[in-house]
Amino acid sequence: MDFKRYLITAALPYANGPVHIGHLAGCYLPADIYVRYLRAQKRDVKFVCGSDEHGVPITIRAMKEGITPQDVVDKYNKIIKDSFAGMGISFDIYSRTSNKIHHDTSQAFFTKLYNDGVFEERESEQYYDEQKNVFLADRYIVGTCPVCGNENAYGDQCEKCGSTLSPEQLINPRSALSSAPLVKRMTKHWYFPLDKYEPWLKEWIVEGKKDQWKPNVYGQCKSWIDSGLQPRAMTRDSNWGVPVPLPGAEGKVLYVWFDAPIGYISATKELTSQWADYWCKEDTKLVHFIGKDNIVFHCIIFPAMLKAHGGFVLPESVPANEFLNIEGEKVSTSRNWAVWVDEYVKDFPDQQDVLRYVLCANAPETKDNDFTWKDFQDRVNNELSAVLGNFENRAFVLMHKLCKGRVPALHAAVMNDMDRALIGDIKNAKTKVEYCLENYKFRDGLYEVIDLARKGNKYLQENAPWSLAKTPELQTENQQRIDICLHLCLQLNANLAILLNPFLPFTANKMCKKMKVVERMLDWENAGRIDLLKTNYPLLPPELLFRKIEDTEVAAQMEKLKNNLVKSTAAKMENTTEPAKIEAAPETPAKKAEITYDDFAKIDLRVGTILKAEKVEKADKLLKLELDMGTETRIVVSGIAMHFKPEDIIGKQVTVVANLAPRKMRGIESNGMILMAQNADGRLIFASPLETADNGSEVK
Ligand code: MF3
Ligand code: ZN
Repeated sequence: MDFKRYLITAALPYANGPVHIGHLAGCYLPADIYVRYLRAQKRDVKFVCGSDEHGVPITIRAMKEGITPQDVVDKYNKIIKDSFAGMGISFDIYSRTSNKIHHDTSQAFFTKLYNDGVFEERESEQYYDEQKNVFLADRYIVGTCPVCGNENAYGDQCEKCGSTLSPEQLINPRSALSSAPLVKRMTKHWYFPLDKYEPWLKEWIVEGKKDQWKPNVYGQCKSWIDSGLQPRAMTRDSNWGVPVPLPGAEGKVLYVWFDAPIGYISATKELTSQWADYWCKEDTKLVHFIGKDNIVFHCIIFPAMLKAHGGFVLPESVPANEFLNIEGEKVSTSRNWAVWVDEYVKDFPDQQDVLRYVLCANAPETKDNDFTWKDFQDRVNNELSAVLGNFENRAFVLMHKLCKGRVPALHAAVMNDMDRALIGDIKNAKTKVEYCLENYKFRDGLYEVIDLARKGNKYLQENAPWSLAKTPELQTENQQRIDICLHLCLQLNANLAILLNPFLPFTANKMCKKMKVVERMLDWENAGRIDLLKTNYPLLPPELLFRKIEDTEVAAQMEKLKNNLVKSTAAKMENTTEPAKIEAAPETPAKKAEITYDDFAKIDLRVGTILKAEKVEKADKLLKLELDMGTETRIVVSGIAMHFKPEDIIGKQVTVVANLAPRKMRGIESNGMILMAQNADGRLIFASPLETADNGSEVK
């Protein structure tokens, strides 16, 4: 399909804290590179973002700091907006979900779904904090973990033993805000029936996007869909957010994940009266840039909402990135283990591009990556500066020394194979970078740009124009070689500026100034050309593009990280402003706490063979298995029905936890559990012995 318009969104950051470099690397930088590339191609593109100013984390931060939620979002909206501007993230608009236009737009969206009878109305009991007068969910409920006895487990997870929990499972649940014991109260909410969209989502994503979306994105979607979709409440009890536009719904607001993505639409409305072209015409390419914790919301929930509403385009792609760790550890905002963008901008004035370089060259595109200050220094000094900066500088120095500061002539008639090969490299670089950018492979794209500079260095080295200048008896001939060599190096340099521009726009502009060309030269169509600089054109004197990153700077940043770190776990427990993002998406499971050998020895692991397998009635996920355990047969009920057909697993040998207390599931007593491995894409694999073992033999 040929697209006429591009609508590029970057996740709306929560205005409850500053953004860190993980945010940049995961979402905003790739989005900006993509958009700058599209603009250089003169395509019709809008790049929208803004602050996500609703949701419980904001109200909690406000309570903690003793200020209003509005104060919180005003403060962080400004910090975040300035951080992005400081790093050259070139949104066409940076809006806010507290704007009137957004309230109107999201309420109208809700009302349309309501009038079309999309929602299911449900009453249920929910935990209520009578001291703070708020309903609470997830992270805002703490209590004793039923599995390990940790007294500070959260309503969604115990961080000590790694168990996934629901508030109902906690023993003695209490409020994370006031520590008051919780009571249950009835409350009414409007549910979006995601389950009804399951067939459509299967067709659209599971079948339609298999080879188009990144494997990490596709895998997460597929396992969500495969594990069965449930209706989700689209409203909350709160006084901070977009009010539910229904009579009798006082004290209720739209769920933040309902209103926030609609923020993309409101922001586009605020930006242009032509907004509907971008949202409603089929030949618009909509791309959402996000981090991996946002995948289900952008790939499943929001598209289902758009589908239910009707009349909107759906995302063509959602190139989500993984996470960037810092110095080998996961970023933690509550422990203050992060490199904050607003601080980087202050500590390294005019050094946006070197950070953009490192974050792109080391982007977590396919797996979590690590940022270290040492690597930052190495990449800037030994890659960016040593290869690209060095090439540019040599070309300028030599041209001033050997060609009187003017672009020398090409003498095309006497070019040799080396020259022609270099011209070929220049042309190929365009094609390669283009391919990478069209396919969201930003790291590879940047590598190709640096590689072209590397080829330039090699060409200079092989031609050694400085030594040609030393033999005056061959002057005319040699001067021709010098001219050709530097002419091509300068044309290559102009090409580098064009190719580099989406990635490192500040540097590309500096390069233009030194070549005394207008910014229009950076138009993508000019890449691959070797006539960008006119013969005899005078250029500015050499000046280094990049300065070195000093050891002292690295040391200072390491100091800062360590000093900022909130060390005590008490402080960590107290801080609950970190929102729980995802429910039930299979992620790399959290590591569990260490156990002793005795703990391990308590588990009786045995080999068994599946004799019979059948579906459990009215339970999509369960299979009833009959196992040959050597001296006995036993029944185990296992939650693997979404993954295997009963007839396919008969005869399989499996590892069984044989001394697990019996448990009734759907009326069937299960006596044990079979062990499975789960891949990142959600696929299950039997943890079976590699060779056939005797049934009943012990695994130790
Ligand atoms: N505020 C969310 C986060 O930081 C992202 C919201 S993206 C949107 O994870 F789609 F909802 F806007
Ligand atoms: Zn626990």
